[in-house]
Amino acid sequence: MSGKLFTLEEVRSHNNAKSCWLAIHDKVYDVTKFIDEHPGGEEVLLELAGKDATSNFEDVGHSSDARDLLASYYIGDLHENDRSNYKPESKKDKKQDPQPSSFPVWLTILSLSVIGVAFSFYMFYKN
Ligand code: HEM
Repeated sequence: MSGKLFTLEEVRSHNNAKSCWLAIHDKVYDVTKFIDEHPGGEEVLLELAGKDATSNFEDVGHSSDARDLLASYYIGDLHENDRSNYKPESKKDKKQDPQPSSFPVWLTILSLSVIGVAFSFYMFYKN
């Protein structure tokens, strides 16, 4: 789903209530008509107008409704040279956590059992 390409320079010139563009996740959105309707207030959008608002958008934890809404203001993509390196909290390193302890639990239980049995024998036969 790629559309028209915009440079960040171009996006930057749409930085006011008459024309308000945002770059989010390397896509460009014309949210001019949405400014008045934004449940989070118009100030935040105007403050970020013409800028990359990816981290701000994500930090708020917008709902999936908000994301759907966002899609309806899509006008194109950021030019390759201007793409951000924003990485969501990631799926990239899906390594297993190392075992917290290298001493297995079953070995601990086994050792305690052996000590318990030995102690019982000792108590039983000591007299
Ligand atoms: C065009 C992009 C955006 C759309 C479509 C959008 C949409 C929405 C929607 C639908 C809500 C209501 C709550 C929800 O459904 O999550 C919301 C709340 C909010 N948004 Fe946005 N938003 C956008 C961009 C931003 C940006 C760039 C910021 C910057 C910080 C922001 C800050 C907030 C805040 C602070 C709230 C209020 C949350 C609350 O009162 O609990 N939004 N937004």
